[in-house]
Amino acid sequence: RLDVIETFHGILFPGHLHTQDSLQLALKFPFQDTDIVIVSYPKSGTTWMQEIVTLISSKGDPHVSQTVPNWARAPWLEHHYFAETSPTTPRVITTHLPHHLLGPALQGSKAKVIYVSRNPKDVVVSFYHFHKMANFLPEAGSFSEFLKQFLEGTLHYGSWFDHIKGWTSQTGTMNNLLPITYEEMLLDPHGAIKRVSSYLQSPLLEDEVNNCVKHCSFSSMKSNKMANYSLVSQEIMDHSKGSFMRKGEIGDWKNMFTEEQNQYFESIFKSKIEEEPKNTTL
Ligand code: PPS
Repeated sequence: RLDVIETFHGILFPGHLHTQDSLQLALKFPFQDTDIVIVSYPKSGTTWMQEIVTLISSKGDPHVSQTVPNWARAPWLEHHYFAETSPTTPRVITTHLPHHLLGPALQGSKAKVIYVSRNPKDVVVSFYHFHKMANFLPEAGSFSEFLKQFLEGTLHYGSWFDHIKGWTSQTGTMNNLLPITYEEMLLDPHGAIKRVSSYLQSPLLEDEVNNCVKHCSFSSMKSNKMANYSLVSQEIMDHSKGSFMRKGEIGDWKNMFTEEQNQYFESIFKSKIEEEPKNTTL
């Protein structure tokens, strides 16, 4: 199904991971109050947060994060294999679904949601490079064209604007939503891990926090085959065309955007961010 694209509620999803049934099931998922739900738009720090949550629950011991693939310890709710995964306790669930689709299933639940976001300019650059190596995504084409599609919201997984506005509009209403940014995680990993661990009510000793920081660093994760996607076949991800753990930096967009693209981005960003979010108040 590498060449199959599932269109669900107007959003494109890769067909080797998603089916209409798996997407439909996700929207009706019976969340439990003990669930930990990592939510992100692609390329915003998803894998990193999966690693952080795993390490927090093992008090900084890397055994689980280095022996179990990230998609098994924190599976994506909307992927077709989700039903067959053996849940950990508490269950750690990942999703890229926007709030206007997943919000209703979470309504009334006390599941702990962690919303990870990243500067969209770095997201689009990371996503562009990922399109070159991921054979389940369309050809990346030129960066100008890709940027246009990103801003129009027509890439796979839908609009970044709908995603960010839908989830962040819940921060006032949903007590159980922790917003955290990629930038915060990179600039202050120690503080970010402490914030996540206290939100998860899983307090850590100083040494345990230090171990988490060490094992979720970019270099540790780049060499951890349970997190760096090197276990995925060449047919699905062409590892000769790039690396999933590519740069792990803030501001790489500056190496990619022309001045004109930056101005174009800024003007669309301003108008889109000011538009009303899709209505889905919990
Ligand atoms: S995905 O495909 O949606 O699951 O991708 P996602 O994991 O959200 O994002 C991948 C980008 O996150 C970077 N990354 C990290 N940066 C810093 N430190 C750590 N530990 C880390 N782990 C992953 C990864 O390199 C991708 O960003 P780019 O800019 O492409 O390097």
